[in-house]
Amino acid sequence: MGGGGKGSNQKAKTVIRDIIRSVRRKTLKDETASTYTIRRPADMPFWNEIVCGDCAALLRLIPSDSVDLVITSPPYFQQREYGGWGIGNEKSPDDYISALIGIFRECARIIKPTGSVVFNIGDKYENSSLRLMPYRFAIAATEQCNVILVNNVTWVKTNPTPRQFRRRLVSSTEPFFHFVKSQNYQYHIDEFLKPQDLEKSNGNNGTGENVGKKYFQLIEQSQLTPKE
Ligand SMILES: C[S@@+](CC[C@H](N)C(=O)[O-])C[C@H]1O[C@@H](n2cnc3c(N)ncnc32)[C@H](O)[C@@H]1O
Repeated sequence: MGGGGKGSNQKAKTVIRDIIRSVRRKTLKDETASTYTIRRPADMPFWNEIVCGDCAALLRLIPSDSVDLVITSPPYFQQREYGGWGIGNEKSPDDYISALIGIFRECARIIKPTGSVVFNIGDKYENSSLRLMPYRFAIAATEQCNVILVNNVTWVKTNPTPRQFRRRLVSSTEPFFHFVKSQNYQYHIDEFLKPQDLEKSNGNNGTGENVGKKYFQLIEQSQLTPKE
């Protein structure tokens, strides 16, 4: 800035402040316009609502190439009781993978060419051996459904259910597979790189120092005898 005295210095500061404000406003406006303006396609059957039902049937109603993101966590294979129906009750691992692929094929169909499917699956022990279910699924998906596997993001559970195993460790991770159907997928790396606040409201600070604490507290409070 040239030497124009106190008054012109103040004016320069005001101009700079206005420029910063306008750039901020413009950036926000541009981001809002390009990232967050979503219009309901004419043939979209659901919009801003929670729809309960069999996803195999419901997904078929959604038009192709119409959704930005599908994120799902199907049941483990033969491990949980969700009312005796749905995915996870198949007779064999192969039937389970086929059922998952049937759903996944629909997920891949409905996402836009710029969209993503994030699929979380847990593993399963049979005869003391891991079945590697998540990886069987991911291989089948990439081989059969014309998708690209962008990442296998590992969910590290900082508070897994404690077990009494003497011959193996507790499984405390699960994969989240990020699939796309073209190289032109939307990706906001800047959002990911923003510093995260690791302090969680449940007292879990991400260091692992509270692992199992909640369960041990419940055990201590319980009226049951050790045998029960
Ligand atoms: C691992 S849980 C998902 C939990 C969920 N992500 C949450 O945070 O609450 C799996 C869910 O899938 C449901 N499910 C199983 N088969 C289904 C199907 N064909 N259609 C819709 N939901 C199904 C089960 O009833 C169960 O609630």
